[in-house]
Amino acid sequence: MRIAALPAYACVAALTLLCLTPAGCNKEPASGTASSSATSQPAAKTFTIGMSQSNLGEPWRVQMNADIAAAAAKHPDLKVIFKDAQNDSLKQRSQVDEFINQPVDLLIISPKEAQPLTDPVARAMDAGIPVIVLDRRVLGDKFTTFIGADNKKIGKAAGQWIAKTLNGHGNVVELEGLQTTTPGQDRHTGFLEGIKGSDIKIVFSADMKWLEPDARSEMESALARYPDIDLVYAHNDPGAHGAYLAAQAAGRAKQMKFVGIDGLPQEGVAYVQQGLLDATFQYPTGGPEAIDTAEKILHHETVPHEITLGSRLFTKETVSKGGEPLP
Ligand code: FRU
Repeated sequence: MRIAALPAYACVAALTLLCLTPAGCNKEPASGTASSSATSQPAAKTFTIGMSQSNLGEPWRVQMNADIAAAAAKHPDLKVIFKDAQNDSLKQRSQVDEFINQPVDLLIISPKEAQPLTDPVARAMDAGIPVIVLDRRVLGDKFTTFIGADNKKIGKAAGQWIAKTLNGHGNVVELEGLQTTTPGQDRHTGFLEGIKGSDIKIVFSADMKWLEPDARSEMESALARYPDIDLVYAHNDPGAHGAYLAAQAAGRAKQMKFVGIDGLPQEGVAYVQQGLLDATFQYPTGGPEAIDTAEKILHHETVPHEITLGSRLFTKETVSKGGEPLP
């Protein structure tokens, strides 16, 4: 008998194939009959998503992962594996390679820096793994979708708000996010656009690398050198908070204003409520949108190459009503 001569795996494969064709495996119970054979249903496919996070040292990134986990929990077909690169681009490169070798079905990456993570993302794409780049960009456009808020627009809105609040003139300290990252670059160029035409002077600027302790020590240098500082513009809320603590320790916090970006309810928004910061701009994590987009990509739906998220401004006046959207 020919069938008996077939190896066992071939029989299983042939039966499986039969069961995958609608005609070969119609398990619809006849009307009025209860479905008694749940085990005969083909198992639903689960997709594995690799999430490469640049670090978990800041509340905003912890929130991003929590947002992703919460959104994924609503999709029984998705499983997310998180890796934390601990603020080290080399480590993040090798973690992406681990995801490629595994392989995962889709990669979400929030890269530490643009240049070093460009190649690993391209390698994933070459391996047929769709990639969602979140918040910080890589170079070029070899990825499936980029999701993030418009940092130039936020920087410009910050510049305009600052120029207006200082009546068009004053001395500003700018504490920049890591300048090898696109949000750090864009929040700076946007800011310059926003203050254009005013008499705002940037008397001191430094790269605080997104880190509160660095912001605090850079602010100590600024305070030591400049007796007249009207405002600190920090590219994130940890930076603005670090600057506030330095000014407070020097007894000068009341002489100046503090502006940050991120606007987490438990961080920047709370600082505005407490009167530590004068303003913060919301920078959404994009976690829910990333999962939503991943689900579409995995089910072969077309998604945009770029998804831009909105932002809100929170000030003393608007914080109690949830801030106001940027126009
Ligand atoms: C966290 C963070 C945020 C900032 C974002 C920019 O690592 O520094 O505070 O808004 O990254 O990519």
